[in-house]
Amino acid sequence: MDFKEHFNLSEQILYVNTPGNGLIPKETLAWRRNWDETFFDIHTDLRDKQADFLSEVKASISTLFNTNSENTFLTPNFSFGYNTLIESLPTDFEFLVLADEYPSLQYPLINRRLSFQEVPVSTNVEERILEAIETQRPDVFVFSVVQYISGLKIDLGFIQQLKKTFPEMWIIVDATQYLGTEPFDFKASGIDALACSGYKWLLSGFGNGFITLSDGLADFLNGMLKDIPRPKAAMWQTKSLLGTFFEPGHQDTLAHGTLQQSLKFLERMGLREVGAHLEEVRNEAYELLDERGFLLDICKRANRSSLINIQIDPALYPNLLQSGVKCFPRGTGIRIGLHLYNDKEDVHRLIEIIESLR
Ligand SMILES: Cc1ncc(COP(=O)(O)O)c(C=O)c1O
Repeated sequence: MDFKEHFNLSEQILYVNTPGNGLIPKETLAWRRNWDETFFDIHTDLRDKQADFLSEVKASISTLFNTNSENTFLTPNFSFGYNTLIESLPTDFEFLVLADEYPSLQYPLINRRLSFQEVPVSTNVEERILEAIETQRPDVFVFSVVQYISGLKIDLGFIQQLKKTFPEMWIIVDATQYLGTEPFDFKASGIDALACSGYKWLLSGFGNGFITLSDGLADFLNGMLKDIPRPKAAMWQTKSLLGTFFEPGHQDTLAHGTLQQSLKFLERMGLREVGAHLEEVRNEAYELLDERGFLLDICKRANRSSLINIQIDPALYPNLLQSGVKCFPRGTGIRIGLHLYNDKEDVHRLIEIIESLR
């Protein structure tokens, strides 16, 4: 399937910066323009129907990722949902985290002075996680499915098994560098909380994201918070207890509507088809990069993500930009991402440009 036709691309630009921010489908962009006009048109009543509209956004999240709408909350980004969750957990909980995570994951533990241990990220990271859990018995394990610098992807089959072995341990996940790249079933995943920003692989622009909870974690939080007096004001009568934490104020229908449009777009394209396409493009990239010694050793695993840190001098970044390659220097190399608007030709073009610069 040709996914490129759905995006505003340019011959001059090789866009591989999805780990920074993803493109928006043409259809979503058209919807945004129209929504802004009609939403603020004095004649329409869209401004009076925001709650219904936002419920439909949650329904779209549930349809694509098999989440429970009641336990799904719309947030402006990953960090808001995650911070709110961390704030709601008992302060004596022990956390297990991965080293060198995106700062928004560890810092909310550090600035609340919560107790945590780190697992270094290595080729056999799943084994290391298991050892750490067996010895330390944390209350919570937190991780990003795809690591933002290296691109290492945690094996989600391992996570499913982990939940079976340690059903008492809460598993909290950042899916920002992952969701949108293949089919994903939240209820079957073993994950208790998944939070995500929409502007990267979900192709949804800024200002939107969500957090979704398993029934078990939602029950636990409701139990902990049950003595808090319920709001008395009529306008909050329908807000759930967890909603008063995760969705405390008005939300932007433009931002969340954009998320909904792009989720519908991904549904139309089919996440299975997107996943198959990415696997093909990714395999080509891994092979060509590996031949040239451009891959990080820890990422030489069967389980691959679409985020790749190319081991070339990050000082080449300005030259890459000059050649039209939208990418970003991260860690010891240049970070790229391959999404549905990329193909094998893009991979070849990228390799040619890199070789011309070295
Ligand atoms: C792993 C990971 N999680 C989350 C985010 C985004 O979180 P937020 O939009 O809250 O800054 C990023 C952005 O780079 C990321 O790389």
